[in-house]
Amino acid sequence: MAIHKPKQGFLILLSALFSVCNLWMIHAQVSIPAKFDGFVYKNSLPHADTIMIEAFFDPVCPDTRDSWPPLKRVVDHYGPRLSLVVHPFSLPYHDNAFVTSRALHIVNKLNASAVYDLLEQFFKHQEKFYNQQTIQMSRASVVDQIVKFVTKVVGDDSLSAVASSFNDRSTDLATRVSFKYGCSRGVAGTPSFFVNGFTLPSAGSALDYNGWRSIIDPLISAQHKSGNETSHFFL
Ligand SMILES: *[C@@H]1O[C@H](CO)[C@@H](O)[C@H](O)[C@H]1NC(C)=O
Repeated sequence: MAIHKPKQGFLILLSALFSVCNLWMIHAQVSIPAKFDGFVYKNSLPHADTIMIEAFFDPVCPDTRDSWPPLKRVVDHYGPRLSLVVHPFSLPYHDNAFVTSRALHIVNKLNASAVYDLLEQFFKHQEKFYNQQTIQMSRASVVDQIVKFVTKVVGDDSLSAVASSFNDRSTDLATRVSFKYGCSRGVAGTPSFFVNGFTLPSAGSALDYNGWRSIIDPLISAQHKSGNETSHFFL
C-alpha cells in the first residue's frame, strides 16, 4: 500500500534507521540463499548491457496489481534489453500475503514457467484473498482454497503436489528469504521498484507506461552514446 511522502527531517531519521537496520541485518541475517531470490520474467536473465528491474510485489496488494500491466507492457516493449525479477514481499497487514507469496514459490518449484500466470490470476481474483473476505475463515481453509486456486493454474494433476508443498518447510523458508531480502533493500511498501539496483522514489504508487518509458529510454540512449566508456556515469 502507499507510503505517504514524509517530511524531510523524518526522511533523514528514517534513512538513519534503515542504515542501523542494515547493519543489524549483516549480523542477524540468516544464511545466504544458494540462489538469487525472485522470479525472472520470461527467463530473460541479465547480461552485461541489460537494464535490470527488480519489483517487490505483494500478491494481494491492490497497488501492486495496478502497477503490473504497464510494467509488463514496458518489459515486453524492450525485450532482451531489459530484465525483470519479481520478488514477493508479504506486507504484514495483508493476512494472506505470506501464503499467496508462498504459492508463487511453490509453483516456481513445480513449473517455473507458470509463476507469472499464477501472479496474474492472483491479481485478477485478488478480492477473494483480502482480509475482509477471509476474516471468518480458518487458516486451514484459506490454504485449502489457495491450493485449489493454484491447481487450476498449473493443471489438475498437480493437486497433491501443490498440497504437499504447503507442508514442505523449504517453501516456507524460501518465502521468508524473499521477505528478508526486501527488508535488507529497505523495502517498506509495495509495489517497490529498483532499476539497475537503484531505488525508484515512487514506492506504493503505480507508474504508468509513459512513466516507465521516461525512465528507461534515457538509460538505453546513454548506453548507446557511451559504448564502453562508462566513466562519465560516476560524475
Ligand atoms: C508449465 O507452464 C507453462 C505455462 O503455463 C505451460 O505452457 C506448460 O505446459 C507447463 N508445463 C508442464 C510440464 O506442466
